[in-house]
Amino acid sequence: MILSIIVAMGNNRQIGKDNKLLWHISDDLKNFKKLTLGHHILMGRKTYESIGRPLPGRTTIIMSRNPEYSARGCKVVSSFEEAATIAEAAGDNELFICGGEKIYKNLLAQTDRFYLSYVDYDGQADAFFPQFSIKDLKLIEEVRHEKTDKAPKWVYKVLER
Ligand SMILES: NC(=O)c1ccc[n+]([C@@H]2O[C@H](COP(=O)([O-])OP(=O)(O)OC[C@H]3O[C@@H](n4cnc5c(N)ncnc54)[C@H](OP(=O)(O)O)[C@@H]3O)[C@@H](O)[C@H]2O)c1
Repeated sequence: MILSIIVAMGNNRQIGKDNKLLWHISDDLKNFKKLTLGHHILMGRKTYESIGRPLPGRTTIIMSRNPEYSARGCKVVSSFEEAATIAEAAGDNELFICGGEKIYKNLLAQTDRFYLSYVDYDGQADAFFPQFSIKDLKLIEEVRHEKTDKAPKWVYKVLER
């Protein structure tokens, strides 16, 4: 099974503030949906609470250390191995790691594929994508998006280990 990270980050690797996203880029959200539909998506408890509902057409797996935690329509796990077992048992061929900071940090080293949206954003944040080098990764796809009146400039890259 392929383990994939999907993230949108600013110029200083910013990903969120006050448990919210930092921008609204409709085409990036559409791409997120297209890529993840039909798959298992793994996220930290805080990211789940920021979204507030399971995303339709996908199996949401929430990571929490709280054994009492539950969310309607979602699976809750206390380890990555448990999440991978659930996805594999369901016959999924790609598990998407959807953040936030803690989850990305924990799973970065094991990730096979990266769907990265680099957003031209210089503002404040309290959650960041970990520092990492892409020099040993192979570039599979790159699409540049110019600034519009609705969205900042952003570059979408797919990389593989
Ligand atoms: N830009 C993007 O692409 C993107 C994507 C996702 C999220 N975000 C942003 O990221 C921010 C949230 O990130 P965050 O780091 O604060 O929170 P998070 O990673 O979403 O969730 C943290 C929680 O996950 C659980 N957890 C973490 N490590 C674990 C482990 N090893 N085992 C079991 N459970 C574990 C814990 O839950 P318990 O406390 O319940 O034990 C922990 O409090 C928000 O601002 C969100 O909007 C941005």
